[in-house]
Amino acid sequence: MDEERIDNGKRNFLKAMIVISAGAAVAGVVKGLVSNIIPPTTGLTAFPTLVLVDSDTGLPIHTSDITVNSTKAYVYYYPLQNDPNFLIRLGDQNNNDVKVVSKPVVVPATGRVFTSAAGVGPYGSVISSSAICQHLGCIPPIIHYYTPGTPIPGHPTLVSDQKNAQNGMLTGYVHCNCHGSTYDPYNGFAVVTGPTAHPLPNTILEYESTSDTYRVKSMVGPTIYGKPNDLSGGTAFPSGTTTTPVNKISVVS
Ligand code: FES
Repeated sequence: MDEERIDNGKRNFLKAMIVISAGAAVAGVVKGLVSNIIPPTTGLTAFPTLVLVDSDTGLPIHTSDITVNSTKAYVYYYPLQNDPNFLIRLGDQNNNDVKVVSKPVVVPATGRVFTSAAGVGPYGSVISSSAICQHLGCIPPIIHYYTPGTPIPGHPTLVSDQKNAQNGMLTGYVHCNCHGSTYDPYNGFAVVTGPTAHPLPNTILEYESTSDTYRVKSMVGPTIYGKPNDLSGGTAFPSGTTTTPVNKISVVS
């Protein structure tokens, strides 16, 4: 009787070891597959400071290189190599620079409020934001800046109603053609139309007046879409990188 119990105990122990070994083998295979599918990523511990340069010449961007109400999207990568951002020099319907001041911006999804980035440059009109739509992550050119008076697909009233309460000027919008989200670049890239419930993260620029050059320093507002935080979830620029190129991308409104 006792011997039988001991034999049963041995059999159960062996069965358990077989199950554990098989599980470990499967886990090893799965881990191998996953690490082959998902590329390793490297993040950062702090926002880098990078000078904005022309993608063709590698030379610093000056104010005259940034067209007011450009019909091309100016896009650069920050804070990681995978994160596209808009560079916009905002204007009114007559292409006069419009100064952008920082102000409270509400995140509809959470009710949280953040203080938007102010415009920089000689006219306070150069601003920047993440170029990844906060709804489901579409990127330029399908999301881009529509200059003042340009019809926005699916939102005819946005053009006719876009009168600024203070001075009656026509304004432009950043709009995503994937599902219709619209953002207000004059007011911290706040949400104008859904389905997004998050403003675009504001990218903070710094202007050096003596050299007429622009640096990107950090970000404020919601986390970049699809990332655990702004500094991870992608690949960092190589150590020692001091610049980020601005590309001019053609868009179709
Ligand atoms: S991804 Fe931009 S509206 Fe859906």
